[in-house]
Amino acid sequence: MPKKVLLAPPENVMVRCDNLVKIYKKKGVEVMALQGLDLTVNRGELMGIIGSSGSGKSTLLNVLGGLDRPTAGSLFVDGRDMLKFNDGELTRYKREGVGFVWQNSARNLIPYLTAEQNVELPLLLSGFGDRRRRASEMLEMVGLSHKKGSLPGQLSGGEQQRVAIAIALSGNPRLLLADEPTGSVDSKTAKTVLEAFRTLNRKTGVTVIIVTHDVNLSKEIDRVVAIRDGKTSSELIRKRSREDGAVSLEELERRREISSSAPPDAPSHEELIVLDRAGRLQIPKEHLSSLGIKGGDKVKVELEQDRIVILPVER
Ligand SMILES: Nc1ncnc2c1ncn2[C@@H]1O[C@H](COP(=O)(O)OP(=O)(O)OP(=O)(O)O)[C@@H](O)[C@H]1O
Ligand SMILES: [Mg+2]
Repeated sequence: MPKKVLLAPPENVMVRCDNLVKIYKKKGVEVMALQGLDLTVNRGELMGIIGSSGSGKSTLLNVLGGLDRPTAGSLFVDGRDMLKFNDGELTRYKREGVGFVWQNSARNLIPYLTAEQNVELPLLLSGFGDRRRRASEMLEMVGLSHKKGSLPGQLSGGEQQRVAIAIALSGNPRLLLADEPTGSVDSKTAKTVLEAFRTLNRKTGVTVIIVTHDVNLSKEIDRVVAIRDGKTSSELIRKRSREDGAVSLEELERRREISSSAPPDAPSHEELIVLDRAGRLQIPKEHLSSLGIKGGDKVKVELEQDRIVILPVER
């Protein structure tokens, strides 16, 4: 078999996974949590990952964060091949290269330290110079300067998560990973937590990957990748018609007419299905059922000038 040559991804790519596999072994039983996952995340992106329970979202985040090693495939983060990291490099990467926010705020915060002390603690451990100033800056960025003296128990769920975001970013990592950070707050609070991610992403340029169950929340994010059975299966891309300076007024009007049910400046999303390396597609169920096509049926595939058309076979 020819040897596969791995090239480092281009400069603007923060994360690239190719054919990533993670197998957990427990009491002799193997679970394939990632089954050849491909994913590219650009520097400075704020992206979401959705998928049902058990689809491999946390596994992916743990692998990206260096908490778990992949079983096979390739993984580059910040231009470096993570499969080649030795233990020392991995420890350094976990301490300096990446920040984590967890769903459970008890995992993010120490209950007997104030918000400010919570942000200062990792800075103290890593020997950061002006800790007090850095902690104030970070709390200000998440809109919590006025709560710096409060203990976690005196803060709301959303505020606790915003402190967690300040902590995760205090050491200035290039990559911020969040596993269901809004999982235990209501949807209104979830929006404020997401806004804190967005602000920090814009102000510092940190690349952010957020895992969420909440499809509504994912509408606030520019790009959302859906994982199914440990593989990427589709992508939702937000169309930035408002920010897109090159779009003419006529074009905006036309787009408004098309999506007349939505408010004029509501972001619209375009769903892209990812074609895997073997050329396979996962077509959304609703498309198939609207044509009466079931799994296991045969379909006709025709190549037209600029498109490939899938047709039901007449029975
Ligand atoms: N440490 C482990 N040992 C054995 N199996 C594991 C381990 N961690 C995860 N798994 C299995 O791997 C699969 C993917 O799990 P993962 O936690 O990544 O899913 P998830 O998408 O994060 O789900 P959820 O939305 O419920 O958090 C599941 O079948 C799970 O049971
Ligand atoms: Mg999970």
